[in-house]
Amino acid sequence: MKQLITMVCLFVCIQAGFAQKNIDPKEIHDKMQWFGDAKLGIFIHAGIYAVNGIDESWSFHNKKISYADYMKQLQGFTLKKYDPAFWASLIQESGARYAVITTKHHDGVAMYDTKLSNLSIVKQTPAKKDMVKPFFEELRKRNIKCGAYYSLIDWSSDNYPGFLKDSSRYTVSKDYDRWNRFRAFFQGQIKEISDTFRPDLWWFDGDWEHSAEEWESQKVRTIILSGNPKSIINGRLQGYGDYETPEQNFPVSRPGYNWWELCMTSNDNWGFHHDNNWKTPYEVITIFADVISNGGNLLLDMGPKEDGAIPEEQIHLLKELGAWNKKHEEAIFNTVGGLPQGHFYGPSTLSKDATTLYLFLHGKVNGQVMIKGLSNKIEEVTVLGNGTKLQSKVVGKISWSPVPGLVYITVPDSVADKYVTVLKVKLDKPIRLYKGHGGLN
Ligand code: GLC
Repeated sequence: MKQLITMVCLFVCIQAGFAQKNIDPKEIHDKMQWFGDAKLGIFIHAGIYAVNGIDESWSFHNKKISYADYMKQLQGFTLKKYDPAFWASLIQESGARYAVITTKHHDGVAMYDTKLSNLSIVKQTPAKKDMVKPFFEELRKRNIKCGAYYSLIDWSSDNYPGFLKDSSRYTVSKDYDRWNRFRAFFQGQIKEISDTFRPDLWWFDGDWEHSAEEWESQKVRTIILSGNPKSIINGRLQGYGDYETPEQNFPVSRPGYNWWELCMTSNDNWGFHHDNNWKTPYEVITIFADVISNGGNLLLDMGPKEDGAIPEEQIHLLKELGAWNKKHEEAIFNTVGGLPQGHFYGPSTLSKDATTLYLFLHGKVNGQVMIKGLSNKIEEVTVLGNGTKLQSKVVGKISWSPVPGLVYITVPDSVADKYVTVLKVKLDKPIRLYKGHGGLN
């Protein structure tokens, strides 16, 4: 009889869905392990735009404010309440395993003590200090990986072609010498950040304004990896990165990348804004569950104020997420993406040995949940973080047919988590899924 059971090979590498050039998959695979296990990172958009609470860099580029007025914010950037130890401990409490901070956004203002430009918060603001150095020190004390966001675009540099949305300084093809001066500058800053901070991860942004040839992406990759071969590079380097970065909106179907990370704001803005459209803990947790179910990471953003304080709502969000992560740790960190669509109506993850399935139940849970096409025997179902054993039942199994029945698990309201309940389904052996059309064969 035709073999109806399809083994789902969970560790097979799907071909990367974005163009990666001349990159050895083995090199990427080894260094990406911590990233794949990490699941959650915290993004920090710190910058002078927090002074007025306006769009990071884009506000002057899009002419909502003049460049001169935008730059006046330098005078209001104080960091007088900046407490990197508190930031790092909050990130740790959230459960995140890495953090990414803006070292320089498109406005060109360095958030660290760059020797290559006068435009830094150290030289031009009352804060007079480097934000990145003490932050990375505090993260490293807590074993949290350090990521450097760096904008390739620099709308403040005289040698950068782009400036306002409808005016630029020059075109590259007409003045290669000038472009070469910019290249020496930005690549110098990358080398400087690499040597000074040794980031575990680079988060480039703005690659869309020039081609890989113009940025010299391959050279940029070499500068980074020759200093720190294990550095991970995000996918915004015109084909020379290690993983893909969908932004804000969750992809409807599972992305086809080996590694990917959804970056998302906590309200509707990256930097500090007068914006009260906060996502609720429930919304963030359900999005996070969806991301890990599909084999990705979530990079959740926060936007500190000009004095370095983190908005209360953001602190609340990170603490609630952290408490949920702590309770359900085993289903989240060091797992792999879960069931393909069609087997269960909700997110799921699997232990790396594929013998434990974790089901994430949104909202009210009183009733039964169903798994389709599970060929394994279930040894035990428990509620994670609570320990209650639940009954499961197989419905519609025909004794002589290899088609598995439907599994129903009864979940009483009393075991519900206030956000998302997680069931731990212990299987007899690594998961095997039936992928056929049903019927008798
Ligand atoms: C976009 C924006 C930038 C923001 C980034 C975060 O690329 O240009 O302002 O920092 O998204 O992902």
